[in-house]
Amino acid sequence: MKKVLIIGGGAMGAAFSVPLIDNNQKVTLTEPYNTKLLNQLLHKKKFHPSLKIVLPKRLSIKKFSPHILSQKWDLIVIAVSSIGIELIRKHLKGFKQKTSILVLTKGLKYDRKINKIITMSEQLSIGNKNLNISVLKGPCLAKELAKKIKSYTVIANKNIRIAEKIGKIISTNYYKTEHLTDVRGVEFSSAIKNIYSMIIGSGEGKNTSSALFRKSFDEMEYLVKFFKGKAETVRGLAGLGDLYVSAVGGRNSKMGEYLGKGFNFKNAKRKFMKKDTIEGADLAYEIAPYILKKVNRKKIPLMISLLNAVTKNKKLKITY
Ligand SMILES: NC(=O)c1ccc[n+]([C@@H]2O[C@H](COP(=O)([O-])OP(=O)(O)OC[C@H]3O[C@@H](n4cnc5c(N)ncnc54)[C@H](O)[C@@H]3O)[C@@H](O)[C@H]2O)c1
Repeated sequence: MKKVLIIGGGAMGAAFSVPLIDNNQKVTLTEPYNTKLLNQLLHKKKFHPSLKIVLPKRLSIKKFSPHILSQKWDLIVIAVSSIGIELIRKHLKGFKQKTSILVLTKGLKYDRKINKIITMSEQLSIGNKNLNISVLKGPCLAKELAKKIKSYTVIANKNIRIAEKIGKIISTNYYKTEHLTDVRGVEFSSAIKNIYSMIIGSGEGKNTSSALFRKSFDEMEYLVKFFKGKAETVRGLAGLGDLYVSAVGGRNSKMGEYLGKGFNFKNAKRKFMKKDTIEGADLAYEIAPYILKKVNRKKIPLMISLLNAVTKNKKLKITY
């Protein structure tokens, strides 16, 4: 039995406890930011408000504190949204243990100091290069995982044995893991697919969306190679796999649909999706300053159109 700490009680963090518990691990879930959510989980008999299920009986739920990190864990899982990575980074700055850390968060950050786009795992290790970080990405709707619907995911670490070891802790007959060494490719693919699912959603019909899907794949390959990942990783679960699930349903493709109908981003957000987090749009704001200057626009026309539409609040114009 392994001791696992999950940081982030949102949909994915909570759903991730399900296969771990089925695998007989001793799991603690902690929420570092959203007090309302934490109180709901603690006082409403573990009913999760967005998953709409009661979390496993054997799951322990605790308030987050720096002290919790210093306890002995076999695996620490980070499942906060990309904006929350900075908070966790600060807490891990003085972390001395060699404990395996697994990052579920999808996203990228433009680091203005070094003028580079960095991944979530790179952001976490700023200030502590000794952290033992792996990443887990791929097509996974939290609600489906919580209902034990068969899902496949990919774990990446430069040392494949570490990735495989983590795979043994989490995989069950309904949650299967693949293992890769291309950490950058996996992180870039899983982040930019949020932007491409908006583009695919903007197609005027399914025929158009399919053509956009095919074009998106080319651009994802180009970008992943540009950022020093492997093109072949885009063909895997973190790329094509995750692009499919986000494009057929989800908030990014829904926003894409409104953009395709001619709404500008701000109007569509206000009118139809006021309370929703659109991860692809957040990412567009984050990476646009870099991409619009540093990447050859002719190689990524779909990405450029979307970045302009979101960040400059212009009508989406897709020509290819
Ligand atoms: N790797 C995978 O298989 C997989 C699958 C689904 C989602 N995800 C990713 O997991 C992350 C969380 O997704 P979710 O669906 O659980 O989202 P969610 O909105 O349900 O939960 C967000 C979590 O982040 C925390 N958070 C938000 N703002 C914060 C801040 N400023 N500081 C600290 N913590 C903060 C919240 O308290 C909550 O715990 C996203 O990056 C998402 O893309 C990964």
